[in-house]
Amino acid sequence: MKETKILNGTKAIEEGARLILSGELVVFPTETVYGLGADAFNEKAVGDIFKAKGRPQDNPLIVHISSIDQVKDVAKDVPDAFYTIAEKFMPGPISVVLKKGDKVPYGVTAGGETVAVRMPENKVARALISASTPLAAPSANKSKHVSPTTAEHVYDDLKGEVALIIDDGPCKVGIESTVLDLTTDIPTVLRPGAVTVEMLGEVLGEVVASGKVIKIAKSPGMKYTHYAPKVKTVVAVSPQHAVEEYDKCVREGGNPILVYRNIYKDVTGDRRIIDLGVSPEDYARRIYSALREGEQIADEIIIEELHGGGIEYSVMNRVYKSAGDKLV
Ligand code: TXA
Ligand code: MG
Repeated sequence: MKETKILNGTKAIEEGARLILSGELVVFPTETVYGLGADAFNEKAVGDIFKAKGRPQDNPLIVHISSIDQVKDVAKDVPDAFYTIAEKFMPGPISVVLKKGDKVPYGVTAGGETVAVRMPENKVARALISASTPLAAPSANKSKHVSPTTAEHVYDDLKGEVALIIDDGPCKVGIESTVLDLTTDIPTVLRPGAVTVEMLGEVLGEVVASGKVIKIAKSPGMKYTHYAPKVKTVVAVSPQHAVEEYDKCVREGGNPILVYRNIYKDVTGDRRIIDLGVSPEDYARRIYSALREGEQIADEIIIEELHGGGIEYSVMNRVYKSAGDKLV
């Protein structure tokens, strides 16, 4: 049994990188769920992941990278579709299955010739990878248990099995990444996630999901900028991110506004806000007028992101375009 430390901040990243490079397991945060990481090129360390989790050997691991360029270190014959997906959704909650690179041990891929590659959005995760090496990592739970979205969840499952848990608070997405296979004739969604089938269809034209081919015609309007206010507009992936962006803008002499629902008043405090109400329906109803108002009275608009399906998905389709896909 190891002593399991829980740390956060820069020291945790430095310590984590050191441990990874010496062949240890380190739990790190991502925006989806916490991951149980090992040096993806170290066969023994990768084997230890399976032991710590009690995971069946035939279930392959995702390799996490910190820059798009790094894909070349872990995969080969990378198709153009990968870069299309990367431009739209990376860093973010999507893993893409590609041809395995020669340096990746078969322990990672469960003996297969393909490898799943993911660039997490979480900055701590990327800092850890940058400071060490690509990380093979499954969710940091005991096999078959619920995926962990806080450091405490991880500790409950894996105390004594890992040297370090890097704590970055609760995960923002909360469900595991979308897994998209690009080694099939038509791109195939193996696991749905926050990057939805519809989103992938819009970008790729057609995808297979749940065994069905789903074709999503690109409407002619797609190539134009839509719904764009005349001032800088960004979508905040969380109220905390919104507040950080707002405060940064003020420090730089700007005049920002939050376009937000009032249910986050405890986070947004007395910062300037255009109130989108409470429900997603309120939000949808008010968003266009809020954007028009915002461009009159501010030089940066920071919009709340909705994360659900249905109306939330539909309204975000517009809002992302308003922001030219700029996320903070
Ligand atoms: O959000 C996530 O993906 C999290 C964080 C830590 O990144 N990771 C995660 O890993 O959920 P895991 O191991 O719990 O789930 C990985 C899924 C499994 O269903 C696995 O079978 C699939 O991805 N997978 C991995 N490599 C694959 C490959 N080469 N081909 C097909 N499926 C693969
Ligand atoms: Mg899992």
